[in-house]
Amino acid sequence: MLYPARSKLARLYSIAVAPHVTRRGIGPLLLAEAEAAAVRRRHRAMRLEVHEHNTRAIGRYEKSGYRLFGRLHRYYDDGGDALRFEKPLEGAKSPA
Ligand SMILES: CC(C)(COP(=O)(O)OP(=O)(O)OC[C@H]1O[C@@H](n2cnc3c(N)ncnc32)[C@H](O)[C@@H]1OP(=O)(O)O)[C@@H](O)C(=O)NCCC(=O)NCCS
Repeated sequence: MLYPARSKLARLYSIAVAPHVTRRGIGPLLLAEAEAAAVRRRHRAMRLEVHEHNTRAIGRYEKSGYRLFGRLHRYYDDGGDALRFEKPLEGAKSPA
């Protein structure tokens, strides 16, 4: 997580689940905890970038309530675009 100075937008810089334990709900749990941490720091939204071909991560973000709002052309070393996602954090709850 990054919390840029003088901004109410938290940024999810990196998230990963070990390959042998994907699809067990760990990704959603990590995302929820990252969002709760941002809420505790009084940030109003979370933003992130994801490679346009990273269908698994994109699916996870969409299911977790993230909305596509932009694209950065040739953002990655392989020439791929970054898709920009945002989720408002009002009402976000810390998981039990
Ligand atoms: C992106 C990433 C973090 C997602 O993590 P993940 O844990 O694999 O998340 P997934 O969405 O694939 O898996 C959740 C699925 O687990 C399943 N699941 C199994 N048990 C579960 C449980 N107890 N609770 C919740 N979901 C559970 C659900 O079916 C859920 O799928 P659904 O939302 O379609 O129902 C992970 O794929 C990853 O590390 N990728 C490589 C690194 C990467 O690309 N990072 C992002 C860069 S921007």
